[in-house]
Amino acid sequence: MRTLDDRKIVVASHNKGKLAEIADLIAPFGFEAKSAAEYGLPEPEETGTTFEENAYIKAHAAASATGLPALSDDSGLMVDALGGDPGVYTANWAELADGTRDFQVAMERTQKLLDQKSAHTPQDRQGKFVSVICVAWPDGHAEYFRGEAQGTLVWPPRGTRGFGYDPMFQPAGHERTFGEMSAEEKHGWKPGQDEALSHRARAFQAFAREMLGAG
Ligand code: IMP
Repeated sequence: MRTLDDRKIVVASHNKGKLAEIADLIAPFGFEAKSAAEYGLPEPEETGTTFEENAYIKAHAAASATGLPALSDDSGLMVDALGGDPGVYTANWAELADGTRDFQVAMERTQKLLDQKSAHTPQDRQGKFVSVICVAWPDGHAEYFRGEAQGTLVWPPRGTRGFGYDPMFQPAGHERTFGEMSAEEKHGWKPGQDEALSHRARAFQAFAREMLGAG
């Protein structure tokens, strides 16, 4: 595995919710991390059909534009009763005609489809969040780290914290949704202690252990 000797990295995301979480998760490792937006980079089109492909598109675009290693997260929600949808199209389900995103609309769409499947009990409403972190270098080399969090899709949504589908997702073994948790609780992890809870924190834990020899 290629290592990161120089702790300077571009965070290849334009999603504010994700950027805040990545900033939290990367902070203990002493990186100088600047976002793609801070470099004035455009958001590349996510044309892949897997989380890995889309993560690579984002990380490699930022790495080749800046000459620095770049880290991206591609993530999404996979609902068992919906055959794994929305999956890589999780963000698209929030898209409105004017191109803006509304995650209340996306959660309602998910709920409507679950209703159509008569998925009313917690057992019928299982799903998982997936996060794939990709670290890519300007020469095209890349390393990947995947994290998953199992849970139940609840209705109505609960909580105003977090972002995206958080108010609808109650992680396994917990009574509250991600939307009702503080960022710290949702991560569930600090390097050197605890088992991560969220998909993103789990992917980060793998990144920290495998690439940085920490956490
Ligand atoms: P993408 O990775 O930019 O394609 O977008 C993934 C989408 O998945 C986001 O826009 C969110 O709607 C959703 N998502 C990913 N991670 C989370 C999370 O931690 N909480 C809630 N929604 C998430």
